[in-house]
Amino acid sequence: MSREGQPAFSAPVNVEDVERIAAARLPRAALDYYRSGAGEEYTLRNNREAFRRLRIRPRVLRDVSIRDLSTVALGKRVAVPFGIAPTAMHCMAHPDGEVASARAAEKIGAVFILSTLSTRSLEEVAEAAPKATKWFQLYIYKNRNITEDLVRRAERLGYKALVLTVDAPLFGIRWADARNKFHLPPHLKLANFTGPAEADGVRERTTKGSQLQAYVTDLFDQTLTWDALTWLKSITKLPIILKGILTKEDVEEAINHNVAGVMVSNHGARQVDGFPATIEALPEIVKAVCGRCEVFMDGGVTQGTDVFKALALGAKMVFIGRPVLWGLAYDGEEGAKTVLEIIRHEFDFTLALTGCSSIAGIEKEMVVPASFYSLL
Ligand code: FNR
Repeated sequence: MSREGQPAFSAPVNVEDVERIAAARLPRAALDYYRSGAGEEYTLRNNREAFRRLRIRPRVLRDVSIRDLSTVALGKRVAVPFGIAPTAMHCMAHPDGEVASARAAEKIGAVFILSTLSTRSLEEVAEAAPKATKWFQLYIYKNRNITEDLVRRAERLGYKALVLTVDAPLFGIRWADARNKFHLPPHLKLANFTGPAEADGVRERTTKGSQLQAYVTDLFDQTLTWDALTWLKSITKLPIILKGILTKEDVEEAINHNVAGVMVSNHGARQVDGFPATIEALPEIVKAVCGRCEVFMDGGVTQGTDVFKALALGAKMVFIGRPVLWGLAYDGEEGAKTVLEIIRHEFDFTLALTGCSSIAGIEKEMVVPASFYSLL
């Protein structure tokens, strides 16, 4: 045991190490909330396992002495092709919460997406990480004034895009949260709100099940249709990325509404068990988009090779959810930075060892399904 009475761990060398340390440190309900997926969590496992069913075909004897990991997303150059996905309630992992994760992103030069359901406010994050490329994830509340207020603040504070999450009119059925009657600890609130219903509403709503699920059912707008996008575009000039797209049919609707990008996402496998792994869904979306907007993805990315595979299959950039929460629980801002550094290091080595000196060098043919080899 260490001096603080915590189990002693050696320094993490990969994301799994960080996860193990976080699991030992987090209170049970917080760990369950962060970790869990919908139903029996088949999709949750598949988000990661589907990456393992892909093989990388390397090229050799190409000069890889100098490597450039940067890319351009929404017209802006960023240092690495991965960023932090919007996840709720970072202060359950570390008191600095989203301030720490945004600072970690700033130090690495990764895009940071702040969740509507954050425990540090848009303002606190903007002040703490002024140089980070920040996007804001939006949920549309039944009371549209609340959503409009979030949009105005994001614009004013220099957030560069709105990530509209469209896969969550309700929150999925997560058994661990239901058993734990998950609620926000008493010392925390949803920091983007002043009204008690929105700020303190993830507590004592109902006697049964997850208080967060009840909050969403009560406050989020389940009547949303594609008209909501028309409305959002009428009140803001910020680029809009639709998060939670899994079919080519929805791509057409999205393009008709002039979105800047789509994020292939199954919400970290937290909505419906049985949705495809996001890396499985990516090729369908890339093909349907056909260069008409940017394609991002998240779900199950824990290694640099995962980033490489997603980019080869056509993603512009990938986003990382849970591993950053594990980093926060491990060591606050330093821990979140450690996670990003691990993935950057692995991605850099994957580039070098596949004969790529930049992202432009990643060719489509370099990533194939395992079945490619089974005919031999
Ligand atoms: C999420 N996700 C999410 N998405 C969103 O649009 N708004 C949110 O507030 C949240 N909150 C949230 C909390 C937690 C604990 C998790 C695990 C996930 C989904 C998130 O943005 C992303 O889609 C997944 O987390 C990506 O999968 P990985 O990287 O966690 O496997």
